[in-house]
Amino acid sequence: MTSDPGRATATRPAMTDSQHLWSGRFAGAPDEEVFRFQASLAFDRRLFEDDVEGSIAWSEALEGAGVLAAEEAAAIRAALSDIREIGRRDPDFVSGNDEDVHAFVERQLVERIGDAARRLHTGRSRNEQVSLDLRLYLRRRLPVLQGALVDLVAALAAQADRAGSVLMPSYTHLRRAQPVLAAHFFLAHAAALRRDHARLGAAGGEADAMPLGSGAVAGTSYAIDTAALARRLGFSRVVANSIDAAADRDFVSTALHACALTMVHLSRIAEDVIVFSSEEFGYLEIADRVATGSSLMPQKKNPDPLELVRGKTGRAIGHLAGWLAAMKGLPSGYNKDLQEDKEALFDAETTLLGSLRATTAVIGSLTLQPARTEPAAAGMLLATDVADYLVARGVPFRRAHEVVGGIVRDLLAGGRDFPSLTAEEWRGYDERFGDDVGARITARAAVEARRTPQSTRPEAVRAALADVRTWIATERS
Ligand code: ARG
Repeated sequence: MTSDPGRATATRPAMTDSQHLWSGRFAGAPDEEVFRFQASLAFDRRLFEDDVEGSIAWSEALEGAGVLAAEEAAAIRAALSDIREIGRRDPDFVSGNDEDVHAFVERQLVERIGDAARRLHTGRSRNEQVSLDLRLYLRRRLPVLQGALVDLVAALAAQADRAGSVLMPSYTHLRRAQPVLAAHFFLAHAAALRRDHARLGAAGGEADAMPLGSGAVAGTSYAIDTAALARRLGFSRVVANSIDAAADRDFVSTALHACALTMVHLSRIAEDVIVFSSEEFGYLEIADRVATGSSLMPQKKNPDPLELVRGKTGRAIGHLAGWLAAMKGLPSGYNKDLQEDKEALFDAETTLLGSLRATTAVIGSLTLQPARTEPAAAGMLLATDVADYLVARGVPFRRAHEVVGGIVRDLLAGGRDFPSLTAEEWRGYDERFGDDVGARITARAAVEARRTPQSTRPEAVRAALADVRTWIATERS
C-alpha cells in the first residue's frame, strides 16, 4: 500500500448485523460506539497485503487437505489477487466499517465469489491470522529499517573519512578527557548502530515461525500440512504450541526493544551534535538546509530535527514499556488486549524510520571545524600521557599519577600549560623527565601512542573505517 497507513477510515453507513463475522450467535446488531471502539481496521489496514498473502496460502493448504475443491480454491485465489491489485492501486480501498482487516478481506471476497469465499475460514481463526500477518509484515518492514540504518552508518563513515587526521577531545563526564581522532568519534556511533542492525535482524528471526494450524487455541482438525505451508510462506519453522502461539507476541516485544534502543542511540548522536555544534563548542557546523531559525531572534540557527529525534525517543521507549505492561497480566490463549501490539509497533516503526532519515540528512550535512577541535584537544588532556612518560621510565603508575596531579594543580593555579614548562621545571617534579618531554607530550603523539585495535591509534581507526565500509557494501549487496 502506498497510502498513509495511519489515516483514519472514512465513515461509512452502518453495517447490517449479518455482515459481522460472528453475527450468528447474537440477537441484534452491536452497539455502534462500542463496536467502533474495539474495531482495528483504521490501523491494521497496514496488514492488508500480508492478510491477502496468508489467505492465498491458506486456500492452497485447504485444497491440499481436501477441504476445498480445486475450482473453489482457484476462484478464491483469483479473487484475492484481484482484491490485492485494487488495494495496491487505490489507497482508499481498504476502509469501511469492518471490524478489522481480516473481516475486510473476507467481505470483499464474499462480495465477489459468494459461498466459495465462505469456505476459506474453515479451520482457521483470526487469532492465528493476525499473528501470521504481523510476522509477514515485520519480514517486509524490518529490512527497510535496516536499510535506513545502513544509510546512516554510511553517512558517519563518510564523515570519518573526511575527518582524516583531525584531532578533537574525547569526553568523560562531559569534561575533556583525552585527545582522539574526530574519525574515531564518528565511528563510535557507527559501532552502536551496527549492533542495532543485528538486533532488528534478531527480531525478524523471532518472527520467523509459521503460526497457522494453531486454530483459535487448540489446533485445527483439518489435515493441514503445516510444514509445507511454512515453506510456501517462506518461514523456516512452524510454531511449537498452539496455546502459546495464540498469544505469543515476543517477536513484537523484541522489535519494539530494537526500535527503542536504536532511538536511544539516535538520541545520543543528536545530543552530541547539538552540543558540539553550539557556539560554546563550535566543533561541528550544521548546514542551513537542515537547521531552523527563530521567529523572534534573527541570529538563531537551531538543530530542530535533532531535538525532535531526541524527543521522539521518549515515545519509542513508551511503546516498549506500554506493550510489556499490556502483556504482563494476560491469561493463556488469545485476549483482545493483544490488539494493542499494532499501534505500538506501527508508530515505533514510523518514528524510527523518520528519525533515521532525518539524522542521516543532518550527519551528511556536518562540517568539522578543526580550528576549534584541535586546540581543544591539547592542554590538560595530555596529563595521562605525561604519567605514561614516567611509567615508561620505571615509575609505578599510581606514583606517576600523583606527580602529574601536582603538576596540573600548579599549572592551573598559574594559568599555564604543559608546553610552557622548562626542562628545569619538569625535572623539579621528577628527575626522570628528560629534555624530550616537551616534544613527546602533544595531542598527536598521544593519539599515536595508543596500541589496541579499538583505540584511536590512526592505523586502528583506518582499519575500523575499512571494516565499516566492507560491512556497508555487504549489507547493500
Ligand atoms: N484485530 C484482532 C487483533 O488485532 C484480530 C484478532 C481478533 N480475534 C478475536 N478473537 N477477536 O488482535
